Amino acid sequence: MTSRQHACDVLVIGSGAAGLSAALRLAPRGKVAVLAKSTVTEGSTYYAQGGIAAVLDDKDSVESHVQDTLVAGAGLCVEATVRYTVEHSRAAIEWLVAQGVSFSTEPGLDGQPQFHLTREGGHSHRRIIHSADATGRAVETSLVDAVKAQPNIQLFERYIAIDLLTTHKLNLPGKRCVGAYVLNLASGEVETISARFVVLATGGASKVYLYTSNPDVASGDGIAMAWRAGCRVANLEFNQFHPTCLYHPQAKTFLLTEALRGEGAYLRRPDGSRFMPDYDERAELAPRDIVARAIDNEMKRLGADSMFIDISHQSAEFITSHFPTVYEQCLKYGFDLTTQPIPIVPAAHYTCGGVLVDLRSRTDLEQLYAVGEVAWTGLHGANRMASNSLLECLVFAEAAAEDILAEWHRVPAPPTLPAWDESRVTDSDEQVVISHNWHELRQLMWDYVGIVRTDKRLERAQRRIQLLQEEIREYYSHFRVTNDLLELRNLVQVAELIVRSAMSRKESRGLHYNRDHPEQKTGSSSRQTILTP
Ligand code: FAD
Ligand code: SIN
Repeated sequence: MTSRQHACDVLVIGSGAAGLSAALRLAPRGKVAVLAKSTVTEGSTYYAQGGIAAVLDDKDSVESHVQDTLVAGAGLCVEATVRYTVEHSRAAIEWLVAQGVSFSTEPGLDGQPQFHLTREGGHSHRRIIHSADATGRAVETSLVDAVKAQPNIQLFERYIAIDLLTTHKLNLPGKRCVGAYVLNLASGEVETISARFVVLATGGASKVYLYTSNPDVASGDGIAMAWRAGCRVANLEFNQFHPTCLYHPQAKTFLLTEALRGEGAYLRRPDGSRFMPDYDERAELAPRDIVARAIDNEMKRLGADSMFIDISHQSAEFITSHFPTVYEQCLKYGFDLTTQPIPIVPAAHYTCGGVLVDLRSRTDLEQLYAVGEVAWTGLHGANRMASNSLLECLVFAEAAAEDILAEWHRVPAPPTLPAWDESRVTDSDEQVVISHNWHELRQLMWDYVGIVRTDKRLERAQRRIQLLQEEIREYYSHFRVTNDLLELRNLVQVAELIVRSAMSRKESRGLHYNRDHPEQKTGSSSRQTILTP
């Protein structure tokens, strides 16, 4: 049977804030295909709670947002990227409003509604625009509606990209991206999509850790695909752990937004005492790396299963109107946010590193762009400041679209692509290899490459990852591809890159804390970790 072949002008892999924004900006010019490996809305974007950082208040300034981001990033942000992002923040929000996103308002001094801005860790101003505590849902559903109204955009739901197709892999001249092999999860067939431009918008890789706030799709596919295609990656040692995820055996991935602390919530030990003032003068509003490490330290010191977040001193009306989703979700697990402290633990939340791109979202491969959490733009440095990531998705989707539109007339139609070769593989008779290795990988990353690292732990992790990689490579060459196999292959690749990056950083900085190198180096040693395939 010959496999199906599709052709488009732009292939966008990923349907979160990054992918959908890029698609919407490109659709007026040509045919765009958008891939989602699950349902179209499933991705981190949908679950974003706190909001989007932007300079919208007259008393705030670009300079202040830039400085806060640089401070949180612990010396590793690329200042030009930070400025570019923040300078485009107001326009990005205006664009979202034009797409139909509705943000929370409050009456202004003149009685007219104005956007309610909240605060989160590291921000010295109220600058987080939000839609109550379900900002991501508001953004994602509005963008999906806009995409569905666009005849030039074709949505491929439940299609997982396997690998990028490049001219050099096809033994053709040049080094450019011309499409991808994709697995149709409904039919089990591998199909081919050829494109003049490809935009990777596959999100992050937090699923590499056993405990995460992220949905299942966050398996680092874009980082692994770009790496295999020959692109550099940067700063993968900086994995952000969100300090406050609900601690409950049945609550797989529920987050208690940082905006709770922005609105006055305290972090408490099991005996009710506060501990953040002992760690940082900004207390509960210190940047996330500091808060997550403090919680981890208190849990280990006291042998406690969790710490607690407590906003019960605010009125019930305030809590239920500002945090309706968190309130309802906590109630489901038997906790009342309005009257009691809620048990929390840190969990893997955000991948600060990624595929290296420039200010136009261009990767090392011609016609391949990377946007959103999959990319490393230099915005986040060693620690992402809360609510800067949705902003990055929007600003860099526009940058990619502008560059693609400028290049449009120059880029030829892609060559005919070869069909996927399945002649040497069979159906697996050993699925247990996949489920075992999934668990082993995520457990070892949690234990050895988590919030606190040591040289020995990293070496142990590296040895085990090498064995897993060999086993998975062999499995991949013998058996038909499935969603789980593809994700595992990508996760183990990303894990290897994370550990390699962490081992090369002989200092502690931002989210990377190594007990054997507890100091932050100064001067020229504050370099980015760039890996070349
Ligand atoms: P995602 O939204 O994760 O989308 C990834 C897409 O790629 C999905 O459609 C997925 O199906 C697709 N995909 C992946 N691999 C493949 C493949 N191989 N083939 C085909 N498709 C693929 N940030 C903020 O700024 N503010 C917040 O308040 C905030 N809150 C958050 C709360 C939670 C619980 C989480 C998890 C994250 C939060 N973040 C927040 C971070 C932010 O949501 C993400 O960084 C951002 O949404 C990433 O968007 P994205 O478009 O890059 O990826
Ligand atoms: C949150 O609402 O706490 C998440 C914000 C973010 O990750 O930027």
